[in-house]
Amino acid sequence: MRILITAGGTREYIDPVRFISNASSGKMGYALARAALKAGHKVTLITALTSQKPPGAAKLVNVETAAQMFEAVKKHFSRCDCLIMAAAVADYTPVRPAGTKIKKTGKSMTIKLKPTTDILKWAGKHKKVKSKKVKSKRQIVVGFALEDKAIRVRAQKKLKDKNLDMIVANSPAAIGADKSNIQIKIPNSSWVKIQNATKAAIAKKIICLTEKLHLTTFK
Ligand code: CTP
Repeated sequence: MRILITAGGTREYIDPVRFISNASSGKMGYALARAALKAGHKVTLITALTSQKPPGAAKLVNVETAAQMFEAVKKHFSRCDCLIMAAAVADYTPVRPAGTKIKKTGKSMTIKLKPTTDILKWAGKHKKVKSKKVKSKRQIVVGFALEDKAIRVRAQKKLKDKNLDMIVANSPAAIGADKSNIQIKIPNSSWVKIQNATKAAIAKKIICLTEKLHLTTFK
C-alpha cells in the first residue's frame, strides 16, 4: 500500500515567535511510519515539528500549522491507499496573527480564535469508495480519538460522523508516553482492546488491520 501518515502537534501562530500548540510528541505517528515501512509499504509522513528521528525510507513532508497540514494532505491524498491521521491538529487558530512580536502592555489581553478545517472529516468525505462500475480501489481512512470520558461512545460517534474505516481511541495519558492503552473500532466488528503496549506494538497492530481492510477491496 501507499500509506499517508500525519504526526505531531501543529503550531498556530499568535505572532512570529509565539504559538498555540499541544503536548503531542509525535511518537505514535512515527511508530506507525516505522511499522508500515517494516511491513513493506510506501510511506509519506506529513509531520509537524517533533523531536523524533525521521524514518529514513519515508518521504517526509514538514509542516507547522493546521492549514499547512491540510494543504499537504490534500496534495498527497489522491495517491494513497490509506491515510492515518495520528497528528494532533489544532482545532482553533488565531483569527489575526500579529505580523510583529506583540509588546506587553501590563493589561489583560484576548486572542480571538477561529476553527481550523477538520482534515480527517475532509478525507472521510472525499475518499474513493468501492464501486462495481469503476474498477478502482477504495481508500482507507483511519482516525484517532483522544477522550477523557465516555471513550467508546465518543470515539464511535467520530467514526460515524467522519465516515472512517477505523478509529483508534486513547486517553490523555497516551500523550508523550512510550506505552499506551488503546481501543480500536472498525465498523461492523467488535472493539479490540490493547493494554499497556508499546507504541511500536500498537502501530504494528494498526498497520496489520489496515492491510486486512485493504484486502477486502479486492474481494
Ligand atoms: N483532526 C483533524 N483535523 C482537525 C482536528 C483533528 O484531522 N482540525 C483529526 C486528528 O488527527 C484525529 C481526529 O481528528 O485523528 C480526532 O481528533 P480529536 O482531537 O480526538 O477530536 P476532534 O475531532 O478534534 O474533536 P474534539 O476536540 O471535540 O474531541
